[in-house]
Amino acid sequence: MTTVSSTATETTSRFRCIACGASPDSAGQDFRCASCGDLLEFAFSGWNFDPAALRSLWLSRKTSSNGLDQSGVWRFRELLPHIPEEHAITLREGNTPLYQLPRCARVAGVEDLFAKHQGMNPTASFKDTGMTFAASSAHQGEFRWVACASTGNTSASMAAYAARGNLHALVLIPQGKISWGKLSQALDYGALTCQLRTDFDGCVRILNELVRRKPVCLLNSVNPYRIEGQKTAAIELLEQFNWEPPDHIIVPGGNLGNSSALGKALLEMREVGLISHLPKLSIIQAEGANPFYRSVRELGGSKLEPMTADTMATAIRIGSPASWKKALRVLQATCGEVEQVTEVEIAAAKAEIGADGIGCEPASAVTLAGLKKLLKRGFVRPRETVVLVLTGHLLKDPDFTISFHRGDLFTGTSHEAAAELAKPLQRAPIELDADLGAVITQLDAAEKNS
Ligand code: F0G
Repeated sequence: MTTVSSTATETTSRFRCIACGASPDSAGQDFRCASCGDLLEFAFSGWNFDPAALRSLWLSRKTSSNGLDQSGVWRFRELLPHIPEEHAITLREGNTPLYQLPRCARVAGVEDLFAKHQGMNPTASFKDTGMTFAASSAHQGEFRWVACASTGNTSASMAAYAARGNLHALVLIPQGKISWGKLSQALDYGALTCQLRTDFDGCVRILNELVRRKPVCLLNSVNPYRIEGQKTAAIELLEQFNWEPPDHIIVPGGNLGNSSALGKALLEMREVGLISHLPKLSIIQAEGANPFYRSVRELGGSKLEPMTADTMATAIRIGSPASWKKALRVLQATCGEVEQVTEVEIAAAKAEIGADGIGCEPASAVTLAGLKKLLKRGFVRPRETVVLVLTGHLLKDPDFTISFHRGDLFTGTSHEAAAELAKPLQRAPIELDADLGAVITQLDAAEKNS
């Protein structure tokens, strides 16, 4: 197999605390700094690559029959910490499409709009790119059990990778607050699934206690291996743009691991010389789950005040995001922005993305809703190139979609009046007798209105 080595010295990776800079040889089970308690990340030394050689090596792997090369994560392993191949657990994740969104572009008022669809991963969310790497590190660490707290997608992904790697999976989810699609995945992949009578933040608290008592490997995004794997989505995106960065990348913000990972990749790609300048990375939250938005807008990012979160976009129903400091650093380094969007704006944007023949789950649609606001504020200009990171597949949460199109998603909520605006986007199913004439009448009426 061809390799590109970093010429000056051997590349090494170390844990480093994001707050105090401590650089421990190994991490504890909670992946927090033993000195100050903040989060750890991977820092690399000895990177001295020829960018052209690296690009062509990565490209050549696309036609390789090697399992690692076929993964859109492991294909970029030169920029990841080393995990020996015998520990790699892969479902050929990554390799996700970059689509143009012409209708959404027209609606938003921007010329060049793209979707990087991370919902096209093996378990239908962006979590797989981080999970392949973190589950593999758990395998290398000889753990029997892996565990996570989740709003649904992390648990689905972790359960799948654990099953593939012969690890046992413990999932903690907030009862009644995750979609059936995601729950069904965790069950089918064989995880021990506990629905706790609390919210996501409550599940995280229990899990943090658990890892102190039991030899389980924590696979939430505080685990820096998750961040490393998730970095590759940005590398793959830049490759798809032929290494010419778009002006803006827009991502949903929940626990803020994804924005941290994508931003880390952008900074590292610039360091290595793969790109010459940085896209602006902006983070969008739901109004009812907006602690990061408020931290940046109201407190200048000086601190984050946890809140009780509530949004129908259950994936990002998070009031105390673990990686907020990492995300803040990314926002500042890339000169990105934060925005918040309403429940109705999310639902409308989701239907608009669907109407482009792409579709996504509610949490992903905050990106389009946020773009509209960033355009209105003049932060994004109509001729700039924009990429929305769609984090989850449309089929993750069909209940939301059906309820929206039937017109009862907001019935009895405080959003009922505002929801009138989204009516033209609704396409309710029509119940008819099994009668040809009735179908033709519908077809003719639809043709007249089209
Ligand atoms: N979009 C989707 C579809 C998600 O599932 C999540 C997070 C996010 C966006 C936010 O990403 O947390 O990295 O800022 N889901 C987690 C879970 C929390 O448990 O599945 P983030």
